[in-house]
Amino acid sequence: MQRSTEQNVEPRIEVDLEPIGRRTTLAPGMTLLDAAQRAGVELIAVCGGVGACGKCRVRLMKGELTPPTAVEERTLSRAELAMGLRLACQARPLGNVKVDIPPTSLSTPQRLQVEGQESEVAVDPVVMPVDVTVVPPTLHDLRADTVRLTDALAAQGIPRPFFGQPVLRDLSEKLRAQNWAVRLALRRRNHGTEAVGVLHPDQALLGLAVDIGTTKMAAYLLDLATGHTLAKAGMMNPQIAFGEDVVSRIAYANHHPDGRQALQARLMESLNALLAQLCREAGVAQDQVVEAVVVGNTAIHHFFAGLPVRQLGESPYIAAASEALSLCACHLGLELASGAQVYLPPNIAGYVGADHVAMLLATEAWQAQRPTIALDIGTNTEISLVVEGRLLSCSCASGPAFEGAHIYAGMRAGPGAVEYVQIVGDEVRLQTIGGKPPVGICGSGILDAVAELRAAGIITATGRLQMNHPRAIPWEGGGAFLLAPASATGNGHDLLITRRDVNEIQLAKGAIRAGIEVLLQEAGLTAQDIDTFIVAGAFGTYLDLESAIRIGMFPPLPLERFKQVGNAAGTGARQMLISAARRRLATQIGERVRYVELTVHPGFTKAYMDAMYL
Ligand code: FES
Repeated sequence: MQRSTEQNVEPRIEVDLEPIGRRTTLAPGMTLLDAAQRAGVELIAVCGGVGACGKCRVRLMKGELTPPTAVEERTLSRAELAMGLRLACQARPLGNVKVDIPPTSLSTPQRLQVEGQESEVAVDPVVMPVDVTVVPPTLHDLRADTVRLTDALAAQGIPRPFFGQPVLRDLSEKLRAQNWAVRLALRRRNHGTEAVGVLHPDQALLGLAVDIGTTKMAAYLLDLATGHTLAKAGMMNPQIAFGEDVVSRIAYANHHPDGRQALQARLMESLNALLAQLCREAGVAQDQVVEAVVVGNTAIHHFFAGLPVRQLGESPYIAAASEALSLCACHLGLELASGAQVYLPPNIAGYVGADHVAMLLATEAWQAQRPTIALDIGTNTEISLVVEGRLLSCSCASGPAFEGAHIYAGMRAGPGAVEYVQIVGDEVRLQTIGGKPPVGICGSGILDAVAELRAAGIITATGRLQMNHPRAIPWEGGGAFLLAPASATGNGHDLLITRRDVNEIQLAKGAIRAGIEVLLQEAGLTAQDIDTFIVAGAFGTYLDLESAIRIGMFPPLPLERFKQVGNAAGTGARQMLISAARRRLATQIGERVRYVELTVHPGFTKAYMDAMYL
């Protein structure tokens, strides 16, 4: 019997996955988790899709899904269900649907792809282009090149700019090579302008924004006319070779002749390599980059600018300069346009630097009306509390554990890194980046593992491992927990969390929580008064908030009060690159902050001891 063509065609359902912008089709009866897997969207599904982990949350934006299952009703609150939240492994589309995948449900690399939106500020850079064509000299017209140029500018109604020596070295050659037509990059000064670059009339003016962390750096190349980011890239801070934290780098600088110069030179070398990479990717020339903004903590700022650091490393930890600086790139060794300047926004005090100002600027936290905590987690964690127009800030040494350093099987967030852990009875469920067999554990995985070990009673509140658990094994320093046996890993080694790893996490999270508590004490508030809790930084983007709360790193607030905002310091640097108004605002923010020095605060030691408990 012949069947009609229609009967052979299986109905297909279209599923749009936002904000990644992928689309796929499904047969009826398949789940949203199937859709994500088909579309190559790495949704977190630690339990493998059986509805036990609650990690695969998505939000229905358009269309219709099967009614919530009993599992969803148990896992999601009524309010969450009313907002359209569902578990992707449970919900099945009934027709074409569009769903939003929150960053917290995405695997680390995809989560980082969606962070760091373009800056939404009016473009108003301090460097502007002026196209000018100059009359060539003759034996009857012997005016110098700058006079010739100045006269041509005057004919356009533009006052004479200042020409510094670096630009003068370029100018004559460029005028002749470009048939007397140039695009001048003019930078605003207090009085008048300064020529900072001589370009071809077809070349766009570009800017470089850099966020230098103690461990990692992120750089962005922007078009100064549009404010668009043309390329971005990151790399490790090469100063790690001189010490993992800023205190040991300052010690290096103090104890080695030319130590400070060596630290600065290594930084510039890497920044130049990063810049060359960005320019290659964007298909532009390095001398189109006519302005840069660099943010970092105070010590990094001093190393970058070549300022003395000895006094910064000794109590009372005094910065050489805290005001905004504009320094000539060529004097720093940064290979930009000949006269390009590098703008360094103001520092706050101690180790709270311009990177924190940039974060407060980008997130608008500085003008919060209700009590707001804004913190940027890194090897140094800077924390601000904004309350009724007051800004209190502190810095705590949280160490590099969340970067995977000092952790026995620690690694960066790359393929095969365990990023989520679930412990059910004796069973351990792991999710790795890229779904590869585990080879190590990254920051979010360590946080999750410690939270799960504690919830399962395998470690005590003091971090001691219960050695009677079948997965506990003897190990130097108080035992270890077997996350995955060698037979199940990608490198043939047992994957372990050691007692020492747990201790590293206790130290790091204790420092962060103590910093939060001290600021709250200063303001006469308690944790429950916090209305908004902003978590910035790459690690802050992909950490599991529930795990952070469970181990006591963050106070127990409802999840909707938290905002994970990605590299906001980088966004703030980009804003200051394209907008003079944002620079002025950053200066005002820096002036308004009251710095709280934790090491001498009477409440710090107790807060730290209390915060060490899990
Ligand atoms: Fe959906 Fe675990 S994958 S709950």
